[in-house]
Amino acid sequence: MKIGTYYYPEQWPRQQWERDFDNIAKLGLQIVHMAEFAWFELEPRPGEFQFDWLSHCLDLAKQRKLEVILCTPTAAPPIWLSHQFPETLPIYDGQIRGRFGGRRHYNPLSPEFHAATRRIVQAMADRFGDHPSVIGWQIDNEYSNPFDQSEITHAAFRQWLRHKYGNIRQLNRAWGNQFWNTYYTDFDQILFPPSRDPRYANPHHSLDASRFWSWAFAQYNRLQAEILKPKIGRRFLTTNFMGLQPDCDPGDMAKDLSLIAWDSYPVTGWEKEGDDETYRIADPAPIGLSHDLMASYHNRWGLMELQPGHVNWSGVPVRLYPGAIRLWIWTAFAHGSEFVTTYRFRQPRFGIELFHHGLMGTDGITPSPGGKQFAQVIEEMRKLDLSRIPRFADEPPRPRQTVGLVLDFEQLWYYLTLPQARRWNQPRWLARWYAALSRLGTQIRILRPSAEWPADLPLIVAPGVQMVDDQLMARFEAYARSGGNLVLTCRTGLMDRTGQLWEGPWASPILPLISATIDGYDSLRDDRFGQIRFDGRDFSWGVWGDQLTPKAGTEVLATYSDQFYAGAAAITRAKLGKGTVSYFGAFSEQPLVDVFIESLAKFIGPDRLQSQTLPGRVQVLRRGPYRIALNYQDQPVPTPVPPSAKFLIGSTRLAPADVAVWEE
Ligand code: GAL
Repeated sequence: MKIGTYYYPEQWPRQQWERDFDNIAKLGLQIVHMAEFAWFELEPRPGEFQFDWLSHCLDLAKQRKLEVILCTPTAAPPIWLSHQFPETLPIYDGQIRGRFGGRRHYNPLSPEFHAATRRIVQAMADRFGDHPSVIGWQIDNEYSNPFDQSEITHAAFRQWLRHKYGNIRQLNRAWGNQFWNTYYTDFDQILFPPSRDPRYANPHHSLDASRFWSWAFAQYNRLQAEILKPKIGRRFLTTNFMGLQPDCDPGDMAKDLSLIAWDSYPVTGWEKEGDDETYRIADPAPIGLSHDLMASYHNRWGLMELQPGHVNWSGVPVRLYPGAIRLWIWTAFAHGSEFVTTYRFRQPRFGIELFHHGLMGTDGITPSPGGKQFAQVIEEMRKLDLSRIPRFADEPPRPRQTVGLVLDFEQLWYYLTLPQARRWNQPRWLARWYAALSRLGTQIRILRPSAEWPADLPLIVAPGVQMVDDQLMARFEAYARSGGNLVLTCRTGLMDRTGQLWEGPWASPILPLISATIDGYDSLRDDRFGQIRFDGRDFSWGVWGDQLTPKAGTEVLATYSDQFYAGAAAITRAKLGKGTVSYFGAFSEQPLVDVFIESLAKFIGPDRLQSQTLPGRVQVLRRGPYRIALNYQDQPVPTPVPPSAKFLIGSTRLAPADVAVWEE
């Protein structure tokens, strides 16, 4: 795994460039990103290119054997474009036009913006496409914008709807426009909504808007990808996503990219819960979830921006726990990342991010605590024989040590549009299952409804997959019937893909699978928790709870212990063909999810699923011949190693935020 950083030469005096490149190399970094946001410096006037400075910097990198990820600068359009073509600027809710002066001030659908993009990207591809130092290209930066309200966008949305539905009657049906008589008689009457929240308007319309907006970014990305591809040979092509940020489903862009990357800022200061200090170290579950999601498209992924210390944007810039950054770099390695790079080399002296840490302070020569941790990991990695680590894509499958977790962006969108229970947080629900599964010490494969699932997985969890279609239902059923152990949770199978409920019993398509009926649900106020009895102990839930009536032969694993429905079933398990389907009826707190998964792993048994029971917030993963243990607790824990382990890094005790690497 290579380690590197963004460097913005155009933000520093030219006479410091050589020194900065020297220091980048001296720190042991192998990758430098350049040109991100540098559109004006590259094209100060339309069509007038000024590339020599970048060419010089590529030479400086080459002389120091640094590899380069070159970025297209389109996230920061220059003044001449915004000024000459105001229609390239976004329009926000209330018809307020976005302004020049920051970044992302563009509408991804604007034809003038497309023309300007083509010109700069083509010129860069022609000049630098096959530069020997360039290993890959990053398109744009963190696609995301509020829903645009310009006429261009409304028109493009209508076109997209025409293509999807063919005629307006179909659309009226898919959107349920009988409700409140909100029929359209022509596509031209339809507007793109200002946000995902329909307030009291139509949720099916909002769902299509989320699909369209992700499609719009994907189209814009494709425009750049098609220019770059013929010019860059085998170099990778990527963009940097933001985990589960809803504007872009990476799946919509995956076919235009060869590697999927994301930006991870694990400690914002918002996360403090309870009295301990773990919030300074981060929660490993959402990190691992996004890592594995990125890996799921091409088995080739990279961590593009890793938080290097304080950020400027959280409002709670807590000081990181010592060693946290080292822990995160090793975590990315353990999940198969091809590289870890950080935003940014030098802390800026000016601009909105002047409080943002870099690897170096503003002087460019004094390493920050994060810079020291990057250097430490680079040193530590030398102890590993990297030639023995297959590329992640080439790692042999280990079905008995791999479990599946279903993640579908469309569900995230619809939960944002129609949460029903305000405590329902789908990313958190996914992370809870991820946390419980990672305690098994197995690999977690993220499965998408539309992509092939690997055969032979002993366990698949599908949390809150509200909208289903025949294909997904057939897949669930076939998986369980052929011997798989499927876990479905509350709010699965409630609707079709338009987001409309079935004309039939609640969750009707899953009822034959779970062999129970769902009699009703409950959701408690933010500060209230109910109890569920599992294995003789009570566990808290509050977000959502389904009360179930099992059919004959269905096992009841847990029941509610309070409220007027005390005694009703909360978790069940039914046999289906050669396998089982468990139904986990409550969006509970973490401990119940943990013990349930632990007991399910025991039920499945070691012949099918080789697992262990790790302490919470402790992960053990495998890369090639190496095992990596990661401690996200603020307390020391014994390293979960077999006696035969030969430590390369660390020892039998993991300090808080500590790492151990061994060979079995
Ligand atoms: C990222 C962005 C970077 C930088 C960073 C600050 O979201 O891609 O360019 O702004 O945040 O934390």
